[in-house]
Amino acid sequence: MKNAYVTGASQGIGKEFVRALAHDYNVFLISRSLPDLNKAIQEIEPKSRGILKAISLDLTKKKDQEELSEILSKDKEFELLVNNAGFGTTGEFASLDLSKELDEINLNVKALVALSHTALSQFKKSKKGFLINVASVAGYLPAPGSAVYAATKAFVKSFTESIHEEAKPYGIHVQALCPGLTHSDFHQRAGIEKSKYPGFMWQTAEEVVEESLHSLRYNQAVCITGTVNQGMVGLTELIPRSWVRKGAGKLMNFDGT
Ligand SMILES: NC(=O)c1ccc[n+]([C@@H]2O[C@H](COP(=O)([O-])OP(=O)(O)OC[C@H]3O[C@@H](n4cnc5c(N)ncnc54)[C@H](OP(=O)(O)O)[C@@H]3O)[C@@H](O)[C@H]2O)c1
Repeated sequence: MKNAYVTGASQGIGKEFVRALAHDYNVFLISRSLPDLNKAIQEIEPKSRGILKAISLDLTKKKDQEELSEILSKDKEFELLVNNAGFGTTGEFASLDLSKELDEINLNVKALVALSHTALSQFKKSKKGFLINVASVAGYLPAPGSAVYAATKAFVKSFTESIHEEAKPYGIHVQALCPGLTHSDFHQRAGIEKSKYPGFMWQTAEEVVEESLHSLRYNQAVCITGTVNQGMVGLTELIPRSWVRKGAGKLMNFDGT
């Protein structure tokens, strides 16, 4: 059995990736909290065919990013990576803690770029491999009230579309996954009130992962999950950008006053 690695695997979307991949792969789960990773393993292991292993790392830190890159580059059975770990912050940019904003870039962007580089270098040698980079529908929007988060996800989407084309001739599948509102602890961590958003806007992490893995098989560069999200993204491309900015600000509860 080949090996898969999932960052941000202790809960939410990452944990659902582990659950789905464990039918076909040995899966290495990465996040900061070892107890949470072990809890996820205990839950998933009874139904998995592969071996599950926890790796505790803080991917905002360059040293930990390098440690993971080294593990990947030494693994001869490495075939699939999901760059999923990420977090969001909310509030007026100028009044937010700058070090946290920079850590958001370290995790959502720098770790993802570093690990994508290692993965593609390995996959090129074997002429096979799968890379999923988790962006967001927020990557299509400037979002007053969540400026850095939306910008990190726009980076991930653009970067991943570019490397998708570069990797295609080698038989490597690369996907930018763009979920919308998905049930997890993400919103609580970001200070977003979940009850503000109507039920039809939400997906489960399981639904997101199912759509992503289906689209990966067909090597689609971008996977926007759910018809509501696909409709919303289509609309943002039709209406004036100033309306998009204002609408996104309203969604983030940022009234500009
Ligand atoms: N939920 C949504 O509505 C939504 C929508 C669009 C896109 N996304 C994206 O989907 C991805 C997963 O989100 P989620 O909803 O599953 O969030 P979540 O439930 O908050 O899970 C985040 C995961 O990332 C890990 N993590 C956080 N900081 C880390 C760090 N410094 N180093 C290593 N691991 C770290 C967390 O574990 P530890 O705390 O143990 O480190 C956890 O396993 C993110 O990239 C997010 O931006 C989410």
